[in-house]
Amino acid sequence: MIHKGLKGVVCTETSISFIDGQQGTLLFRGYPIDYLTRHHSFEEVAHLLWYGHLPTADELTQITAKLRERRALPKHVKAIIEQLPAQLDVLSVLRTALSSCIAHNQEQPTIEDAITLTAMTPAIIAYQEALHQRKITPTLPEIRNDLTHVEHYLYMLTGSLPEPSQVKALETYMILTMEHGLNASTFSARVTASTEADMISAICSALGTMKGPLHGGAPTGVLTLLDEAAAVDNARDYIYQKVQKGERLMGFGHRVYKVMDPRAEALKEQLQQNNKDNSWLHFAMDLEALAIEVLEEVKPGRSLYTNVEFYAAAIMRELGLASHLFTPTFSASRMVGWTAHVIEQRADNVIFRPRAEYIGPLYEV
Ligand code: ACO
Repeated sequence: MIHKGLKGVVCTETSISFIDGQQGTLLFRGYPIDYLTRHHSFEEVAHLLWYGHLPTADELTQITAKLRERRALPKHVKAIIEQLPAQLDVLSVLRTALSSCIAHNQEQPTIEDAITLTAMTPAIIAYQEALHQRKITPTLPEIRNDLTHVEHYLYMLTGSLPEPSQVKALETYMILTMEHGLNASTFSARVTASTEADMISAICSALGTMKGPLHGGAPTGVLTLLDEAAAVDNARDYIYQKVQKGERLMGFGHRVYKVMDPRAEALKEQLQQNNKDNSWLHFAMDLEALAIEVLEEVKPGRSLYTNVEFYAAAIMRELGLASHLFTPTFSASRMVGWTAHVIEQRADNVIFRPRAEYIGPLYEV
C-alpha cells in the first residue's frame, strides 16, 4: 500500500504537542493552546516546549535574559546580509544568515542553540527589512533589553514602541503557531536531524520547506484571494469558478483538521475583540462563510474549513506588516517547535528512510 504524501502514517512518537483533527483540539505538552495564549507569554510557552514544563519564576528570569542577550547580531551575520542581492526574499536571507549563526557543529543539538536561533531570527528579519526599506542603513534601532521578545520584534521592524494591543495580537499569533506536530517543515527538520546532522542544517531544511504556498507561504495567497474577491461584483461566483477550475483557496483545508483549525478560531476571536467596526475584517468573515459553503458544494465530503493561515493574514494586516514578512514571521515563531523537535528526534533517533515503489521499465539485457 502506497501512502502518497505519507497521509495518515504515524512514523514517530512525540511529547511536544497533541492534535485531534476531528475535534479541533491542539495541546502543547498537555496544555490547551487557548489557555496558553490567554495566560502565558511567548517566553513561557517557549520554555514549556523546550524543557517540558512551564517555567518557575527563576527559570523565567533565566530564559528571558538569554533571549534578550542573544538578540544582537554578530558582525559577520550582518555582513552576510548586506552582501546578499537586494531582490532576495526575506526567507532566503533568513536561511542564508542563520546557516552562519552557530559556529560549532555540536554532536548533540541543545536547548542553548534553540534559544540562540529563536533570539536571532527576528533580528535577522528586521535587519534585512531595514536594508530593504533603506529606512536605516545599515543599522537597526538600538537593541533594547527591557522589551519582551514580541515587543522587541515589532520595535525592530518599525523603530517605535508598539501598542499593548498590537503586542497581544502578535504574541497570540506567535504562540499559536510555535508548534504543530509533524507538519511539512518540522518533518523536514526531523529527517535532517535523523541523519545526525547538526541543528542548523535541520533548521535550514525546515526553512526551505516552510516557503511553499501549500505550507508557510499560504498567508500571502490569502490576501490576494481577499483583495481579488473584494474587487469583483460577485464574490461567490469568483470563489465558485476558482474551486470549479481545481484551484486551491489559500487559507482553507488541512491535512489533519477536518473541522475549523482551533488556531484560526483563536485568531478570529482575538481580531474580533480589537476590531469590532473593521469593515475589512467583516468582509474576511463573510468570505470565509461563503468559501466554506462553496467548498462543500463543489468538493462535498472533503471537510474543508478555515486553517490558521486565513486569520494569520488578517492579524498581520492589522499590525501593518507587509505581506513579504508573513512567512518569515511564521518562521520566527515556528523556530521554537522546530528546535524542540530536533532535540526530541536526536534523543531517540532512528534515521528516516522510507521506500518508493519502482514503476519504471525493467530491461532484459
Ligand atoms: N481549496 C480547494 N480545494 C481544496 C483545498 C483548498 N484550499 N484543499 C483541499 N482541496 C481539495 C483538493 O482539491 C482535493 O480534491 P479532490 O478530492 O477532488 O482531488 C481534496 O480537497 C483533498 O485535498 P488534498 O490535497 O488531498 O488534501 P491534503 O490534506 O493533502 O492537503 C493542504 C492539505 C495542502 C493544506 C490543502 O488543503 C491546501 O492546499 N490548502 C490550501 C493551502 C493552504 O492554505 N495551506 C496552509 C495550510 S496550514 C499550514 O501549513 C500552516
